Order: sequence, then structure tokens, then C-alpha cells
Amino acid sequence: MTGYPFSRRTLLRAGGHAALVAALARAPALAAPKFLDDPFTLGVASGDPAPDGFVIWTRLAPKPLEPHGGMPAEAVPVGWDVAEDESFRRIVRTGVALARPELAHSVHVEVGGLGSHRRYWYRFVVDGIASDIGTVRTAPAAGATLDRLRMAVAGCQHYERGLFTAWHHISQEADLDLVYHYGDYIYEGKAAGLAAAAKAPLVRHHNSDEIYSLDDYRQRYALYKTDPDLKAAHAAAAFVSTFDDHEVENDWAGDLDAGTTPPEVFLLRRAAAMQAWYEHMPVRMTQFPYRGSPRTYRRLDFGQLVRLHVLDKRSYRSIRLCEKPGNGNCVDTRDTPDTLLGGAQERWLGEGLTPAFAWNLLGLGGLVMPFDRSAQAVPSNGYDNWTGYPDARERLIGMIGERGKNVVITGGDSHMFFIGNLPSRRGDLESPSIAPEFHGTSVSSISTNGLPIGPDPRAATNPHISMIHDQRGYLLFDVAPKTWHADLRVVDQVFTPGGRISTLARYVVEPGRPQAVKV
Ligand SMILES: [Fe+2]
Repeated sequence: MTGYPFSRRTLLRAGGHAALVAALARAPALAAPKFLDDPFTLGVASGDPAPDGFVIWTRLAPKPLEPHGGMPAEAVPVGWDVAEDESFRRIVRTGVALARPELAHSVHVEVGGLGSHRRYWYRFVVDGIASDIGTVRTAPAAGATLDRLRMAVAGCQHYERGLFTAWHHISQEADLDLVYHYGDYIYEGKAAGLAAAAKAPLVRHHNSDEIYSLDDYRQRYALYKTDPDLKAAHAAAAFVSTFDDHEVENDWAGDLDAGTTPPEVFLLRRAAAMQAWYEHMPVRMTQFPYRGSPRTYRRLDFGQLVRLHVLDKRSYRSIRLCEKPGNGNCVDTRDTPDTLLGGAQERWLGEGLTPAFAWNLLGLGGLVMPFDRSAQAVPSNGYDNWTGYPDARERLIGMIGERGKNVVITGGDSHMFFIGNLPSRRGDLESPSIAPEFHGTSVSSISTNGLPIGPDPRAATNPHISMIHDQRGYLLFDVAPKTWHADLRVVDQVFTPGGRISTLARYVVEPGRPQAVKV
């Protein structure tokens, strides 16, 4: 694409109205480079809605899979607009942000001063070229009564293992307030070879060997973010983003990887990965990776209806228990009580659990419920989940019992739905539930249960678990003061375009009854 004069496509993409012409007119004075290719190949995104605003994000990358995204090593001014209407006739905020080479020419604008619980549209402009348009709704005012909140919960999107059809369907869900992304936004592995192809179908390939350097991670994010279904989902609703293990490396824990790498060496890789995570997520400056460690645990409030606690389940956890004796950075037993959230985050969670909200949603990641695995085809202990951190789980249960009112737990990482109830007593799966858990499946990553797509027989031997089901998809929560509905949305296949969506099951939770009840 050429820069000036702007093309017909540019005008069409941005709506083609007088306001756009005004926005484009600003661009030449800002000394942006001339772009021969579309600089907005990675789309746009919004995130972390507040009552008065949100983050809007883009990254300039005319050649997304090349070093530095094909950008010159200089800062580039990028214009942005926020409007009350899709055609940008009523622009209410506008500005210019610097896309800096230090941050891969990403742009994070924290827009404020907007009305609460209102829908807005946004776009970016550089060198006379307009980005796609995104839409986002602000959160309700603090303390406001709210009769409905609608959110999707998704993650685990292995690029090679399936198309991002679930993201297409999320982009089509009516009236979404937000998408909670529980992590595994990218996978760090090398392009799959023949052995991996023999195990399960591959629909496309990673762009490189295993990723280690900052530029490796940037190019991997760029590969994923060029996917049109993922771009559509970002343009359709605000994301609340966190990370799990594969944003860095499989099963990492604190300052240790799952291999034998010394911590000081692993921390270099982790810092590169965290910088790239920040660069590619629509998150606020409070999540900036100072000295390689972003603080990503945070709360988002939606009137009096929902408090969402976003938790970091990787950075502060104790050393792993060994799945097999001596396999890497792990121990067979621990001498001191384990932690999964770390002391500071655990205290912070306890302080923030409050009955001032009708519901507290914990984005905990990893399966929190214990379960009897004796019936499974592929043996594993599940030590990467909360089962590997039994003291932390017991303290969490105590905290919910003491301070939590109407707590719902969500997350993902198993690449299967697990719907059930967290037992209140250690070692007693039949003890009363302390909170329902809706553990999401994956957008495209495959499970390791070794069974065909469909129901998993392990649910039958676990009295506290209603359903275990292996199929790609996402969770959809419809929240009201007196009901928490959860739909298990599934796509029929992810190997060819056009996979169809349906609802596998619907659950409801009622206030004061910490049970996921199938309806
Ligand atoms: Fe995953």
C-alpha cells in the first residue's frame, strides 16, 4: 500500500467520512515514514475497561515476520481517534502516540474521560493510512447497579494444531463486555516436524525454531496476530489479558524452567518473553515489565455486579514437584509450605475478596479442583496445576470460606472443559463445595488425554466434577445479580475453515449456593 495519496481501500476501511479526512490531514506534519505496505498487519485491540476509558493498542509492522516488523529504527508518531459512532462523525478523544523502536513500535494509549458503560469505536492513522476499526465498551460506574455482564473466556491457541475458528465465533457473540484471556496466547516451540505431525493434525507451521530472544518472541506474536479470526475478536471487544506458561516456556515456575537451565539464565529468557508479552497485549502501564517482571495481577470492577481478580499463577510459585523423579528443575518433596501465588499476591487477593460485589470471579488458571486420576489413559500427577501446590490450595479454600462471597473460579490450561465444584475439605472430594469452577477448554491446542474428542470418563469417578469434555471452544458467561450462566461453546472442527459453533451444555450458579448446576 502507498502512503499519500491515501488509497480507496484506506478510506473504505476507516469509514470514508469527513472526520477521517481531518485525521489523515494531521499525519503528514508528523514526519512518519512512507509506508509501501500496510503498517497495521497485526490489527488493533482494546483492553482493561474502566468506567472512564480503556487501553487501545496497535503495533506498526509492515513486514510482520521480519526483524523489527520491517520498521526503521526510529520513533514514529501515530494518530488515534475514539468516537461515539462507527462512522467517526462524533469523535470525542483524539491524540498522537509515539510508536517506539524499543517497544517494537507498539502503541498503548490509555484513553480516559469517557462515559461509563458506553460503547465507543477507535482507530489509528499513520502516513495517511488508517487501521481497522475496533469497538469497546467502558465499564459501568463504580457502585452502579447492573443487570447484565457478558464475557467470553478463552485461551490456549496453538497455531499449528488448529484454526482460530473459536476466535471468529467470539467476534460474532452479541454484546460482549469483555474477553478474559487466560494465557497460552502463543506457543514457544519450534515448527513441528514429522513426529508431531504423526501425533495429531497440523494445519500450519510455526515460523522458526524454538524461541529465546526478544526478536524471536516478537516474530512469534506477529505470526499469531496476523490470524484474521484473532484480529476480528480483538476488534470486537476489550480483552483482559494475562499469561500462562507458553508465553515463556512449558511449565515454568518462578525463576525456573522445567529443564535444568540455571535460574539466572532462564530469567534472561523470561525477561525477553515478558517484554514481548507487554508489547503485544492491550494492557495498561501498570503492567509494564519493569526489570523484566510485569505486575499483572489486578482487579477490574463492573458496577456492583462483578469484581474480576486477574491472577499471576506463574511468576511467584514454588519450585515444581517432579512428575518423574529427577526430571529437571523440580523436587520430590518440599520442606516448607508451597505457594502458587506468592505471599504478596495471596494477601492482595484476600484483601480484595469482598461481598460489596454480587460476584467475585477468580481468574486462577490451571485446574484448582483436585481429582482422582486413576481412570486416565495417559498417567500424570497434574503437578503443574493446583494439585502440585496443596498447601496453597488449602489456604485459598480457607480464604474463600472466610472472606469470599459468591466466588466463581475460571481459567484454563488443560485443553479440556472441567466443570465442577471445589471441595471444602482436603482429601474429601465429597465435602461441600466452596466455589464452582469453570475451567475452559482451548481455542486450538490439543489435550493429552489420549482419547477421541468428546466426553472424558474420568468425570464418572469424581463426585465433585460434573463434566470433563475434550473439544475446542470457549466459555461464555452471562452474569446477572441472581444468576451466573455459563455456556460451553464448542466448534465442530478446527482443521478446515468454517467450523460451526454450538452450545454443548449450560450451567447456572445462584447466589449463596456455590454449585455449578447443569440446566
Ligand atoms: Fe495451553
